[in-house]
Amino acid sequence: MSESILKVRGLTKTFKVPANAAGKNQLRALDGIDLDLARGETLGLVGESGCGKSTLARTLMMLERPDSGSVTWDGVDPFSLKGKDLLALRRRVQMVFQDPYASLNSRMSAADIIAEPWRTHKMMYKTSRDRAARVRELLHLVGLRPSDEHRYPQEFSGGQRQRLGIARALALNPSVVICDEPVSALDLSVQAQVLNLLNDLQKQLGISYVFISHDLSVVRHVADRVAVMYLGRIVETGATDAVFDRPAHPYTEALMSAAPKLDAASRGKRIILDGEVPSPLNPPSGCRFRTRCAHATDICASTVPPAAVDERESGHVAECHHLRRPIELGVPVAVG
Ligand SMILES: Nc1ncnc2c1ncn2[C@@H]1O[C@H](COP(=O)(O)OP(=O)(O)O)[C@@H](O)[C@H]1O
Ligand SMILES: [Mg+2]
Repeated sequence: MSESILKVRGLTKTFKVPANAAGKNQLRALDGIDLDLARGETLGLVGESGCGKSTLARTLMMLERPDSGSVTWDGVDPFSLKGKDLLALRRRVQMVFQDPYASLNSRMSAADIIAEPWRTHKMMYKTSRDRAARVRELLHLVGLRPSDEHRYPQEFSGGQRQRLGIARALALNPSVVICDEPVSALDLSVQAQVLNLLNDLQKQLGISYVFISHDLSVVRHVADRVAVMYLGRIVETGATDAVFDRPAHPYTEALMSAAPKLDAASRGKRIILDGEVPSPLNPPSGCRFRTRCAHATDICASTVPPAAVDERESGHVAECHHLRRPIELGVPVAVG
């Protein structure tokens, strides 16, 4: 793989919550996440609601502090930084949120919204003309008009608002943008336009994306590689085509089988996922997917599955005792 801009190893994040009936109050939202992001690539992060996608995004953004494990941006641990160095790193990693309605201040004009990060980061333009020119440049970059600078968020359509959210994210020239469900609140036709914009921006500016979505067709469209999350863990990761066409983990297989397919030839049998995702307050022992898995046996309850790596497909990894296709096995890890 090409050079990593982001490396995550063994990342764990627990929230203290009101105790449930069993007296448990430690909610483990992330449980040993390993992740790599290469420069200029798009990593898709998929998984059902509640599996920890947003917590992972917030931890990468340094908005949450992990309990253990490491995050490194270009080899630097962001949680060790202070003052100017921290601010400089924060500039490089920006976020686009799901809901452009909630994430944009309705009392600010588009120009002020785009310029706000400069204020936060104490970046002054020499003259107000320079500042205005850069605002217009950013509006143009995201497909809005120069005259839009005077408009307020509520005067824009949903798609235009998300373009404005993207312009704000780009104001500081980030090298990475974390997109958390960026098109989920938009109409289908508008989704495609915003995805194409993100794609064009990546080509023009060389940005890397972590692209979070519960919508598999969206991820297939944008991602170079995919990581599949289940209950705070990444259960399978690999090149987008490998994960979509040759899923090794039964959870990935079930997710993919439920996703709409365009061509009839690739429509296989739909695998129904029974029941709900278990509570992260009380995750199953061994393999956390076993309670919903059609292939589970005794070992799945007793032993955490090892990470299996397919040597032929670079970086295809899955954690399962009963892989749906052969992957060379690592060493099993005992529970306890
Ligand atoms: N600040 C928090 N306090 C307590 N629990 C939280 C907090 N943030 C997230 N969680 C819990 O962590 C789990 C993962 O949530 P989240 O990361 O939002 O998942 P996703 O984005 O995949 O839907 C959920 O069980 C959620 O309720
Ligand atoms: Mg979320």
